[in-house]
Amino acid sequence: MINIDKACKTFNKELVLNNLSLNIDKGENVSLIGENGAGKTTLVRTLLGFYSIDSGTIRVNNLDPRVHRKEVLHDIAFVPQLPPPILFKVKELMKFTSTLLNISVDSIVQIANLFNLDINHHGNKTFFSLSGGMKQKMLLSIALARDNSILILDEPVSNLDTKSRTVFYDLMLQKRDKTFIIITHGESEIKNITNRRVYMQLGEVIKDEKN
Ligand SMILES: Nc1ncnc2c1ncn2[C@@H]1O[C@H](COP(=O)(O)OP(=O)(O)OP(=O)(O)O)[C@@H](O)[C@H]1O
Ligand SMILES: [Mg+2]
Repeated sequence: MINIDKACKTFNKELVLNNLSLNIDKGENVSLIGENGAGKTTLVRTLLGFYSIDSGTIRVNNLDPRVHRKEVLHDIAFVPQLPPPILFKVKELMKFTSTLLNISVDSIVQIANLFNLDINHHGNKTFFSLSGGMKQKMLLSIALARDNSILILDEPVSNLDTKSRTVFYDLMLQKRDKTFIIITHGESEIKNITNRRVYMQLGEVIKDEKN
């Protein structure tokens, strides 16, 4: 489903992905683990077609994400590490994404409720003005309301309170039939929702464990 073969990527002569190969099959629930600066975010950004690589190949469902970006993104629900500065009001954002992604606003609100994010109370605020954790809850609610075959979540619990982390892990248990990559520093927390752990260091995969 995801095939990365000998990918190299440099930023200003700094090698960030170093001849990295990784194949992820349908139904694999992967946690991607590694120190700050290991190249985790860069790797997922190449999968989404945000960055090109200098050499090697990347395929998502047999498509090159740089060439078939729209098709690739259609298959992937993605939550970025840092929330974008969206100026829509929360209610407008839900309406916009529900139309764009063909999901109901209700399904987003239902997940937001599980996260204890009160849309009635916060719906008229701009997304930008939400707290860090609220932004993360909003983006997760939209991503998890989708029924994509692939989910890529870049440090999805980093801003969540303890209760909401439990809610998130419970929701991910229901996504086990999907293929997902969760970047995390909370390796032990996430262990029982994943069946594979990929460790990165200095742009390389240094350990790859499957259950
Ligand atoms: N757009 C960019 N331009 C220049 N350098 C970049 C860019 N994006 C990432 N880098 C560099 O690539 C390296 C890897 O960054 P990356 O964000 O992939 O790390 P990470 O593993 O996600 O770390 P963290 O755990 O801190 O999120 C870092 O040295 C970073 O400065
Ligand atoms: Mg990162």
